[in-house]
Amino acid sequence: MVKDALEALKLPPLLKFKNGKTVKDIAGFERRRAELKDILQREVYGYLPKAPEHLTVETKEEESESFLAGFGIYRSLVFHCEIDGEDATFPVTQIMPKKEGKIPVFVCINFGTDIVHKYLPLEEIIHRGYGLFVIKYQDVAKDSADFRFGMAKYLCKSRRALSAPGKIAMWAWAAMRVMDYLPRFENVDLDHVAVIGHSRLGKTALFTGAMDERFRYVISNDSGCSGAALSRGKEGETIENICDRFPYWFCPRYKHYIGKEHEMPFDQHFLLSLIAPRHLMVGSAENDLWADPRNEFLCTAAANEAYALYGMHGLVHHDAFPSPDTELAEGDCLYHYRRGGHYLSRLDWNAYMDFIDKKREKE
Ligand code: GCU
Repeated sequence: MVKDALEALKLPPLLKFKNGKTVKDIAGFERRRAELKDILQREVYGYLPKAPEHLTVETKEEESESFLAGFGIYRSLVFHCEIDGEDATFPVTQIMPKKEGKIPVFVCINFGTDIVHKYLPLEEIIHRGYGLFVIKYQDVAKDSADFRFGMAKYLCKSRRALSAPGKIAMWAWAAMRVMDYLPRFENVDLDHVAVIGHSRLGKTALFTGAMDERFRYVISNDSGCSGAALSRGKEGETIENICDRFPYWFCPRYKHYIGKEHEMPFDQHFLLSLIAPRHLMVGSAENDLWADPRNEFLCTAAANEAYALYGMHGLVHHDAFPSPDTELAEGDCLYHYRRGGHYLSRLDWNAYMDFIDKKREKE
């Protein structure tokens, strides 16, 4: 079923170089990786702004006595990025469990303006032994067409260029700055860093992990259109819908593909394949038809071609769209499909942590 469904969509080939030659091995895919990154930046998200000249991090506040009944440490950090000689800043919240040994961490790009947030079951995450670096996305750049405020004014001087970065690229850029800083913590397990986001921030997490190989786990929760779902044959939200309401998430060129999905020289499996050979986790919810769970599943399966080159399985599935409340967790990738609606719930967090636990145990 999966093979036929993918064939019927006539996706642009993942493993063909621009010059028409076939990608045959790992070395070839590493060269293809550069082409894939380029096409997605040029056509969809815009080119990632360059890294800052210097990064320093200031601790504004720390609570290590009684936070989370004494089981956690809270720090409010300010990231100072030197860009063209100017000091551009954004805040990050760090929460770590108090425990010995190396700690796996999530870089979570989140909606909330406060650490107590519906999408962040904090105590559960801490008690399972995970640390968190939370970026509240609008502290980096406003979720609007305005590019004058926050980091946006440093990261994009003009929106006139067709491949100028959109807001997704800017939020992703901030997550990469957190990654730059992690090696300075002795107790962070740098081999087990995950980037996670929900919905528009799931698209952001995917773009972050696709562009930055330092993230071992890349988690897209209900990201849908222009995230984990294939655009060809998509139900629910289309490129037209998303460019109508949120054109500024993308580069100006993306809107040229409205109604022309079948002509696009790429599709979202290009994005997901860039996560190989690391671990991709895609979560969908049964009632989230706007995101299109089926196309999220098919897209995850389509990335298997890249994993195969590394001698890996990618997503192990049963050649059928799974029924709800199913985990496809046997391979290198996870497809997590639960009942209910569009939400980043504790059920989702637990599925992702179970998967990471399993991978860590094997090492
Ligand atoms: C809108 C948008 C989606 C997006 C979602 C969200 O529904 O159309 O593409 O994922 O917002 O971020 O909550």
